[in-house]
Amino acid sequence: MDLAARRSYRRLQAEHLHNDDRDKGKGRHARIYRNRKQCLRSARRTIVRFEARIGFMSGSHSEDETDMRASGAKLRLAADTTDEIDLVIQDVSMRFNTREGTVTAVDGVSFEIKRGEFVSIIGPSGCGKSTVFNILGGLVRGYDGSVVVGGERISGPHASIGMVFQEESTFPWRTVIDNVAFPLEVKGVPKAERYVIARKFIDMVGLTGFEQRYPSELSGGMRQRVAIARTLVFEPKILLMDEPFAALDEQTRVLLGDKVLKIQQDLRQTTLLITHNITEAVQLSDRVLIMTFRPGKVKRIVDINLPRPRQGDVVGSDAFGRYVAEIWNDLREEASRGMAEAEDSARLRGA
Ligand SMILES: Nc1ncnc2c1ncn2[C@@H]1O[C@H](COP(=O)(O)OP(=O)(O)OP(=O)(O)O)[C@@H](O)[C@H]1O
Ligand SMILES: [Mg+2]
Repeated sequence: MDLAARRSYRRLQAEHLHNDDRDKGKGRHARIYRNRKQCLRSARRTIVRFEARIGFMSGSHSEDETDMRASGAKLRLAADTTDEIDLVIQDVSMRFNTREGTVTAVDGVSFEIKRGEFVSIIGPSGCGKSTVFNILGGLVRGYDGSVVVGGERISGPHASIGMVFQEESTFPWRTVIDNVAFPLEVKGVPKAERYVIARKFIDMVGLTGFEQRYPSELSGGMRQRVAIARTLVFEPKILLMDEPFAALDEQTRVLLGDKVLKIQQDLRQTTLLITHNITEAVQLSDRVLIMTFRPGKVKRIVDINLPRPRQGDVVGSDAFGRYVAEIWNDLREEASRGMAEAEDSARLRGA
């Protein structure tokens, strides 16, 4: 990758280390670091993403790369026949070893997303949605099955994928504008130009006037909007979002959803949204994938045949209501199973 990208990455790493070491007790720093530990942890994860994008994955493309390339070639042949497919997840399973034993978080999940398609995954809490998200983003290893992006099997983060995380991921030591402009800095876009572009996205997420604030001076929902703007600013070909609107009130959620949808349609971004919210899933998606309660499997995929372009007001139509009811039916079964299981284990613990 080019020099500017390397320089920005090094600067970010230095900022991170510097801030990690700093005395947290005083003045402005105490404010910036109100939630310091958590901020730094999630910032570190975000740095890993940038690391991948600018080609710093030293060592992580492991010995099995040749193997991967060979199977990648095979999968590419398969993908050529359906060249509109952008993202494939094939028979993916993931188990975690915990103190209580092995947990199967995801079990034999397979689906495909076409170029420019908007797909949502919906399922009860703990059914493995974030696990699927992290696997697609190349942040998790040790799973069975494969993930294919643009016809190639991946073994780590992929440059064309942008992610918005469920947990906080802003850089706490940077102002809103420097957070949002960061991907452009990595690309080597001059400061004045990147600020103009960043302002456009800051405006889009409704944060004009807050450019010079630090994340700790914003509400949780505002911080999440900074993270959304920062991911959208580099116009990723594939956009993965894990509960991006969860911290927002209903009105902001619908309005911001409209704006994200407009960008997604304009850029023909392949998008995967993870959500708990049925209205949001139906409002935005071409297809909604319903997952079962643990272990997470694909229960059903529902095609949403509502006309596009879609505005927030589609929410009031009869057809919309029917889709919501249909999805809720499936989801209720899974959520009830989840609750029953939680009650059983609470009873056993109490016994
Ligand atoms: N690193 C981990 N170590 C052990 N268990 C894990 C780990 N990550 C996830 N799990 C377990 O895997 C299951 C699925 O977790 P995941 O975070 O994917 O769920 P989710 O569907 O995203 O839930 P939510 O809707 O609450 O965000 C859970 O039972 C969780 O406890
Ligand atoms: Mg989750």
